[in-house]
Amino acid sequence: MAASGRVVVFGSLNVDSTSYVASFPEPGETILSHGFQVALGGKGSNQAVAAHVAGAPVDLVARIGADATGDFAIATLARFGLPTGAIARHPDAPTGVAQITVADSGENSIIVTGGANLALTPEVVDAERARIVSAALVLTQGELPVATIDRLAAVADDAGVRFVLNLAPPAAVAEPTLAAADPLVVNEHEARAVGVGTDAAAASLDEWREHAVSAVGRIARSVVVTLGAAGAVAASGEGSWTAAAPSVDAVDTTGAGDGFTGTLAAFLAEGRPLEEALRIAVAAGALAVQARGTVDAYAPRDAVLRAAGLDEAGDAWDAAGGAADDAGDATA
Ligand code: RIB
Repeated sequence: MAASGRVVVFGSLNVDSTSYVASFPEPGETILSHGFQVALGGKGSNQAVAAHVAGAPVDLVARIGADATGDFAIATLARFGLPTGAIARHPDAPTGVAQITVADSGENSIIVTGGANLALTPEVVDAERARIVSAALVLTQGELPVATIDRLAAVADDAGVRFVLNLAPPAAVAEPTLAAADPLVVNEHEARAVGVGTDAAAASLDEWREHAVSAVGRIARSVVVTLGAAGAVAASGEGSWTAAAPSVDAVDTTGAGDGFTGTLAAFLAEGRPLEEALRIAVAAGALAVQARGTVDAYAPRDAVLRAAGLDEAGDAWDAAGGAADDAGDATA
C-alpha cells in the first residue's frame, strides 16, 4: 500500500567510494582493504530513497555535476523509480563524493567533499516554493549550506508544512530553524552538539528519553535521538517514547541513520503518530545494518512493517494470520 503524503527532500547527493577493512588505519599507516564498492550516497539522497521504498511519493531536490559521477547517480535513482526532475546539474562543480572506510566491526568513517551540493542555495529554496508548500513534509540534513537549511525551515514553517531536520553532521543553524523542527532527528553526538543530553558517554534509552523531553519546546518542536544498536527515543508535546532495536549482526552501519530518517519521514507524512513512525524507523535501521552500503541495504515497506511487528493498519502483526496485504517472509 502506498502512502499519500508527499515528502520533499532538500538533499545532499554524493557518490560513495567505500573500502572494507579489518580495522581503521592509524595516521601515517597504509593498509590493504578486503573489499571496495562505488554506490549512490549522500544523506539526502539516501533518505529520499528510504522514504520512497517505504511507500511515500518523494521529490528529491538536489544538485550534481555535469560529469560521469552525476550520470551514475541519476541512473541509480532511476533504477529505484525515484523521480529525478528536481535534480539539476551544475556546469562547473563536480558531483559530491564521499570516501568511506568500513571496519569489520561495522563502524565507519566518512569524508564528504560537497561539490555541487553547495550550489543548493537559499535561492533554490525560493524557486522551489510551490513544491514545498504543497508537500506533507519537508526533510533536510546538515550536509547542505546552513543558509539553505535556515531558508527552507522558514518557508516550510510559514506555509504550515511539517519540517523535519536531520542535523547530521551538526551545523550552526539558526535557533528558529531548530525550533521549527518537528522532529529534530539527531544521533547522540549530534544531540550533545545542540544541547540535548549530557557529556556522559553512556546513558540508557530511558535517560535519553528524558533528555529528549527536556528539549521539546526549549530547542525543537519535537525530538528524536537515534542510539545505534540500542534503538531510538522520541518526545513531542503529546508524550515520549523509547523503541529498542532488535539484536542483529551489523555488517555495515553506513547510511543506517538515513534509512531510519527517510522511513520516519515517510510514515509521518502519511499521518502516522510519532510513536508508531519511531518503531517502524528503528526496524528499518536494524534491517539496513545487515547489508553493505546505503540505498541497496534499505528493505521495502512490507519487510520493514513486518520487522516492526505491525501490519498496514498499524496494528500488532498477527503471526497466525499475517498482515492483511503482506504474504512475504519476515527478514529480521
Ligand atoms: O550517512 C551516510 C552518508 O553520509 C554516505 O552515503 C555519505 O555520502 C555521507 O553523506
